[in-house]
Amino acid sequence: MRVTPYHWEMAFPEQRPRRLRRTPALRRLVAEARLSVDDLVAPLFVKEGIDSPEPVVSMPGVLQHTQESLRKEVRTLADLGVPAVILFGIPARKDARGSGADDPDGVVQVALRSLRDEVGDDLALIADACLDEYTDHGHCGVLDTEGAVRNDETLERYAAIAIAQADAGVDVVAPSGMMDGQVGAIRAALDDAGHVDRAILAYSAKYASALYGPFRDAAECEPQFGDRRGYQMDPPNAREAIAETALDVDEGADMVMVKPALAYLDVIAELRNAFDVPVAAYHVSGEYAMVKAAAENGWLDGDAVALEHLTAIKRAGADFVLTYFAREVAERLQ
Ligand code: PBG
Repeated sequence: MRVTPYHWEMAFPEQRPRRLRRTPALRRLVAEARLSVDDLVAPLFVKEGIDSPEPVVSMPGVLQHTQESLRKEVRTLADLGVPAVILFGIPARKDARGSGADDPDGVVQVALRSLRDEVGDDLALIADACLDEYTDHGHCGVLDTEGAVRNDETLERYAAIAIAQADAGVDVVAPSGMMDGQVGAIRAALDDAGHVDRAILAYSAKYASALYGPFRDAAECEPQFGDRRGYQMDPPNAREAIAETALDVDEGADMVMVKPALAYLDVIAELRNAFDVPVAAYHVSGEYAMVKAAAENGWLDGDAVALEHLTAIKRAGADFVLTYFAREVAERLQ
């Protein structure tokens, strides 16, 4: 028997998908995901006790800010239309309980008051609520004598941090420590302190990722021993991300987050389907650094890859993206 070669054109003479790819205008018209300035949140570092901003070597273009340079940067971001920033503080002194994190005069609280004064409500102020930048051992909580993080004592510290941040004017508290019950503890503390109107962005599906390396340079929070696998999620697990996020939503999370982003697009898509709260994705330091390093070598078109990455994160279902590319992408999207 003679086999006739199969031609799709004979079977479906009307189907020609390339028609809609012919011009830039047509492609724009039918784009399923769109990246806009409104999708961007800029992570920013502010360091206590420095006279001028210091570059982060592993994250070209990212600085450890002084209060003054931070204020300028946030003014620029607000003028570009970026809707939010997330702040990370690096204190001058660290101790075992991370005292600087909830000190009313701690570096992030000072920054929050100054930024509110600068931009009013034009831009939302998010603050990372964690201890690793503030503890001398670099872990995200209070340790027992064996060096393991004590969950419930750490929750008390997180509650105090959230109140200090809210007193200083934060719009959104973002607990990133992955302790059990952290969202509920923070919600209760904020409500008791009269901050019922301050929101929580929960780092719900935060994986124990090797992609946080450059951040630990920027925030000076590399653990002095051990790692974070005892509290952050294990990369092979996606169903567990749904369970973790369900707990956070039950405990009062207003928004949830997946972190990192690109290696976890499946998790972003699943959370988007499973929950009705806004889903954020954190395009983390290592994801940024890889693009920058390749671009500096001339191996990739860094601008194009940045847009492709962020658009793909939107396509997967994220409502907004925390990204170190925020400023440069916002400038290009004007
Ligand atoms: C912990 C925290 C980390 C990041 C954000 N919050 C580091 C960690 O868990 O080790 C990483 C963000 C990034 O890599 O860009 N406070």
